[in-house]
Amino acid sequence: MRKPFIAGNWKMNNDAKYSAELAAGLAAALKDVTTVDIAVCPTFVYLQTVANALGDSSIKVGAQDVYFESNGAFTGEISTDMLKDVGCTYALIGHSERRHVLGETDEIVNKKLLSVLKSGLLPILCVGELLEEREAKKTTEVVTTQIKAGLASVSAEEMSNITLAYEPVWAIGTGKTATADQAQEVHAMIRKLLAEMYDADTAENVRIQYGGSAKPANTAELMANADVDGLLVGGASLKVEDFAAMIKNVE
Ligand code: 13P
Repeated sequence: MRKPFIAGNWKMNNDAKYSAELAAGLAAALKDVTTVDIAVCPTFVYLQTVANALGDSSIKVGAQDVYFESNGAFTGEISTDMLKDVGCTYALIGHSERRHVLGETDEIVNKKLLSVLKSGLLPILCVGELLEEREAKKTTEVVTTQIKAGLASVSAEEMSNITLAYEPVWAIGTGKTATADQAQEVHAMIRKLLAEMYDADTAENVRIQYGGSAKPANTAELMANADVDGLLVGGASLKVEDFAAMIKNVE
């Protein structure tokens, strides 16, 4: 049985004060939730602030990115040890904005994933197709390539520490959510691919989140799908009442 996992990706939003208020508000609103794993991913500079504001809450902190080298002359980059030092449990890897806005390749995504696994942080590997790729009926091909390349050299045993997030790029921040059927179709395809790459048990146990305009109003419909195990939420994770409502709905 896969435990639902809902994560909020705050992207490049919120100042220090609001980040702390949002974290504290969520900790209070969700203090009794035990049946859903919850994480928030603030920008690097407020990771410590948010970890402090969450206190002993069961809500975990995740980073939005990480670098694959452990230390040294990499100006502007952040290592896995630094993330652990400020209280992170998770790290997003290969978010579509990193791939398509910042030019991150599958090779870089794989290096980051391997370094995160080695560090003991838990990666959330993001994949998803562009609108033109969906329209050209290339969704399966694109997602398969991203998953195979992203998971290169990852063992079946290590898969138990990985969450996947399917985020169709055309649904991110656009208000256009994938329909429940569109999400389920790709999630089922991903699980089948994992069974081929690893084995049936491994595939069965991996959690696959959906991301892309997920909000309180579509949470139940998306989560009703057999292969949708959670959500990676952008805009709707920026307000206590919206994000808390989504988690309560799943609970
Ligand atoms: P939105 O929920 O704002 O569409 O963002 C989704 C996303 O990219 C989460 O990582």
